[in-house]
Amino acid sequence: MEKILFVNCCIRKEASRTKKLVDFFLNELNKTGNYEITELSLMDEGMTYMSEGFFHQRDELLVKKDFSHPRFRYAHAFAKADKIVVAAPFWDLSFPALLKVYIENLCVEGITFGCNEQGCFGVCKAVHLVYVTTRGGFYDQTPMEMGSKYMEAMCEFFGIQRYDCIAAEGLDMGIRPVEVILEEAMEKAKEMAADF
Ligand SMILES: Cc1cc2nc3c(=O)[nH]c(=O)nc-3n(C[C@H](O)[C@H](O)[C@H](O)COP(=O)(O)O)c2cc1C
Repeated sequence: MEKILFVNCCIRKEASRTKKLVDFFLNELNKTGNYEITELSLMDEGMTYMSEGFFHQRDELLVKKDFSHPRFRYAHAFAKADKIVVAAPFWDLSFPALLKVYIENLCVEGITFGCNEQGCFGVCKAVHLVYVTTRGGFYDQTPMEMGSKYMEAMCEFFGIQRYDCIAAEGLDMGIRPVEVILEEAMEKAKEMAADF
């Protein structure tokens, strides 16, 4: 059984269209019987962004190379997952700040990446990360889309070789029914599940 980490940043929880799409994808993965999926719901974690004391604590632990502190649990879980699924809506041209706070918690030298004279290199075990998102407008292939692009760059930084995005677009435009757009994205999700 491969271990999948599912990072849920669907802020609107069960009302979220992104959640519906990712649930479909995870269900397709479950059908294969090949995966053990562990969900991390960021909305329920009470994570803190880096400021003052929280930042200095991190620095002090890193100097001592003390990676056993509970604050590093997110980085450890991310680093040891076989595959990763992240779901978040498109907000303000990227994703909710909550996901950025999670990423801040992931970036720990000695757990998810290392550095040498040549620069930094990822040390995460995962071979594939799939990012699931939905957007109100149409931004795919435009320079203004910085959610998927950022996640792709983070994958490279963490040493995760393969990145894919499953996106549904134009959900708030009123041009096509939301259900139809989601069904099309689910078709893509089905193909991706077979190739995960
Ligand atoms: C705070 C906020 C910011 C948003 N920013 C954008 C945006 O920059 N571009 C866009 O196309 N849609 C934007 N939207 C619309 C969402 O991307 C769209 O409704 C999406 O499907 C929401 O996902 P959800 O149903 O999973 O919550 C925004 C929505 C919210 C609530």
